Amino acid sequence: MRISVIGCGYLGAVHAACMAELGHDVVGIDVDEHKVSELSAGRAPFFEPGLPEVLTRAVATGRLRFTTDMSQAQDATVHFVAVGTPQTKGSFTADLTYVNAAIDGLLPYLSEGDLVVGKSTVPVGTAARLAGIIEGAGSGAHLAWNPEFLREGFAVQDTVAPDRFVYGVPAGEPGVRAAEQLDEVYATALATGTPKIVTDYATAELVKVSANAFLATKISFINAMAEVAEATGADVTQLADAIGHDARIGRKFLNAGLGFGGGCLPKDIRAFRARGDELGLSDTLAFLGQVDAINLRRRERVVTLTRELVGDLQGAKIGVLGLAFKPNSDDVRDSPALDVVKKLVEAGATVTAFDPEANGTATRSLPSLVTVGSAAEAYAGVDALLVLTEWQEFRDLVPSEVAAAVAQKKVVDGRNCLNVAEWREAGFELRGLGRP
Ligand code: UDX
Repeated sequence: MRISVIGCGYLGAVHAACMAELGHDVVGIDVDEHKVSELSAGRAPFFEPGLPEVLTRAVATGRLRFTTDMSQAQDATVHFVAVGTPQTKGSFTADLTYVNAAIDGLLPYLSEGDLVVGKSTVPVGTAARLAGIIEGAGSGAHLAWNPEFLREGFAVQDTVAPDRFVYGVPAGEPGVRAAEQLDEVYATALATGTPKIVTDYATAELVKVSANAFLATKISFINAMAEVAEATGADVTQLADAIGHDARIGRKFLNAGLGFGGGCLPKDIRAFRARGDELGLSDTLAFLGQVDAINLRRRERVVTLTRELVGDLQGAKIGVLGLAFKPNSDDVRDSPALDVVKKLVEAGATVTAFDPEANGTATRSLPSLVTVGSAAEAYAGVDALLVLTEWQEFRDLVPSEVAAAVAQKKVVDGRNCLNVAEWREAGFELRGLGRP
């Protein structure tokens, strides 16, 4: 199939590369010339395991190219819209500028039988509005909404072999045809029995935001239990193991710690609340305000624990391990780790930080940040060491080696990822989140 992908950020670049890998003929279109030239050379503009290999292979076959020229979409039949929907500055709403611009830019190049497929996360009601614009233009093209559930760090795997497909399609014959076209795009995964739900636009849009709201709620639930554990001397990690054995609850997404960040969960729950307000459903979605508040409180808690360990943060030397919002990513958008670093610096601490992949993105976001090239350099001579992203190499640190290098044997385990007994045995005073 001939496919265009509008927007080559995290979602679009991965989608374009994976669709070409599956045998489709793909053009990726983005306004950013630098991004387009990097991708054209088979280089991923961000860290994502497996993506450079897929990109290089697909570009070499000639089935994948990138351009800034929207008219190159003309030859494609299926057009994926994968642009960002960031949080609007000064408000909780989703900024739809890029989605609107992508549709406007695409309109002149659509023809009879084309399918525009929205993948971006949007407030419910957006697809119906955009369908009106596309159908009103009279090209004979239609719109489907096909949300994306990929996780950073597993983006290639999640795109090639997702756990489900959701198609939001228009009523009647155009909807039947849209579903057939999407089936053709996703034939490889569907052949392996991947579940598929064909529904209306509103349901498809809501599936995505409610999935993210549920995941965020699950994390904040366990972090609320961490607060209770801190007040009562209980251990939230054991509690999570115990309740997680109940198959109705499940152990996944019950890791208490510094909480969620990244380019999706925080802004998506805020945009969902904002949309709820517009729909007169403020009470219905008010709990998401608590989910957000619990999440943000964990960042303050790490600062408090650090202060308790070192006494005064003013002038304290703090080593930070981890800046990305989660391991196997260089993404620092709404990163809890970076937020903690900012708070420590504001309180007068001297912070030396290391992340295996996110030093660059973190320094671009916070130019005053001092990063070093290894974990050992980050903890040398510090008054306290903070582990804020659970990269495997931090889990694997040998406490006795760290003990020999630090000024004071004090550690905050912001992700409950360290072996507490081993660190204490090596003489460390260790504080975790929600555990004694
Ligand atoms: C998320 C959704 O999982 C994905 O389906 C959606 O398409 C985009 O948003 P992602 O942002 O890549 O994906 O990260 P995810 O793996 O969901 O983690 C989100 C945040 O939650 C991270 O900061 C992570 O550290 C945190 N988290 C996750 C916890 O604090 N505890 C957990 O138990 C799990």
